[in-house]
Amino acid sequence: MGYSSNGFGAQGVEIYPDVAVLAQAAARHFADLAMAAIAARGRFAVALAGGATPKPMYATLASDDFAKRVDWSRVHIFWGDERCVASDHPDSNYRMAREALLDHVPIPAANVNRLRGELEPAQTAIEYEQVLRAFFAQTPAGKEGEKMPGARFDLILLGMGGDGHTASLFPGTAAIGEQERWVVAHYVQKLGAWRVTLTPAVINAAADVIFIVSGAGKSERLRQVLTGPRNPAALPAQIVRPDPGHLLWLVDVAAGSWMGVG
Ligand code: 6PG
Repeated sequence: MGYSSNGFGAQGVEIYPDVAVLAQAAARHFADLAMAAIAARGRFAVALAGGATPKPMYATLASDDFAKRVDWSRVHIFWGDERCVASDHPDSNYRMAREALLDHVPIPAANVNRLRGELEPAQTAIEYEQVLRAFFAQTPAGKEGEKMPGARFDLILLGMGGDGHTASLFPGTAAIGEQERWVVAHYVQKLGAWRVTLTPAVINAAADVIFIVSGAGKSERLRQVLTGPRNPAALPAQIVRPDPGHLLWLVDVAAGSWMGVG
C-alpha cells in the first residue's frame, strides 16, 4: 500500500515504491470504480490515457487477477486524446491500449469508441464530440434516480508529460481555456504534429480523475504542479480540478521523491 496524503488540497496523492506496484494500485482503483459504477448505473464509462506510463496498468488489468473482477460487457472505453495517425500506427494510443488490454478482455467491439485519428483532425474532433454527446445523452439514471449532467465520465485516466501537459493539452495552447467544446483538434508546435483531445470542460465533469505519473524525470514538474503557484497555461495538468468529482494522483517514489517518502 502506498503513502497517501491530501496535503495538496482536495486532491489525493498515493505513492508507490515502483512502477510495477503503481500499476497494480492503478488497476485496483480502475476495477473498484468499474464495479461501483456498474452496480449504481449499469455501466462504466472510462477515458483511457495514452503514452507509455499506463501500459503496465493496462497489462495488469488484462491479467487473470483483474480481468475476472470486471464485467467487461458493461464497460465503455473512450480515449482522453489521440495522435492524428492510423489505428495501427506505433504512436496510436488506441493501438497501445488494444495490444495491452482490449485484445485480452471480453469487451464488445461496440463498447470501444476509438478516436479516428486517420481522419482530417478537425473531422476527428467533430465526430468524437458527436459520439460523446450521443453516448451521454442516453445516460441511465442512477439507482436513486440521479441524472448525470453533460459528459460525466465515471473515470478519466490521465498521464502528465515532463512539461506539465496532460491529455493533449500542451502549455500555451488555446485548448487549455476551452470551456464549451468537449473535443478539440490542434496543431502542437513543439511536437510538429496534430493532436485531438478532450477539453477541460469534459475532464472536470468526470466523477473520478486519476493521474498516473512515474519516473524521476517528472519529479520537479510534479512538485510544481502539485505545490507551486496555479498557472495552467504553463502547467496544463493544473487545469484538472474535477468538481464535484474526485482527483487522485498515483505516483511512484521516483516521481514523488520530493515528498520525502520512500
Ligand atoms: C499522449 C498522452 C499524454 C501522456 C503524457 C505522458 O497521447 O501522449 O495522452 O498526455 O499521458 O505525454 O506520457 P508518458 O506516459 O509516455 O510519459
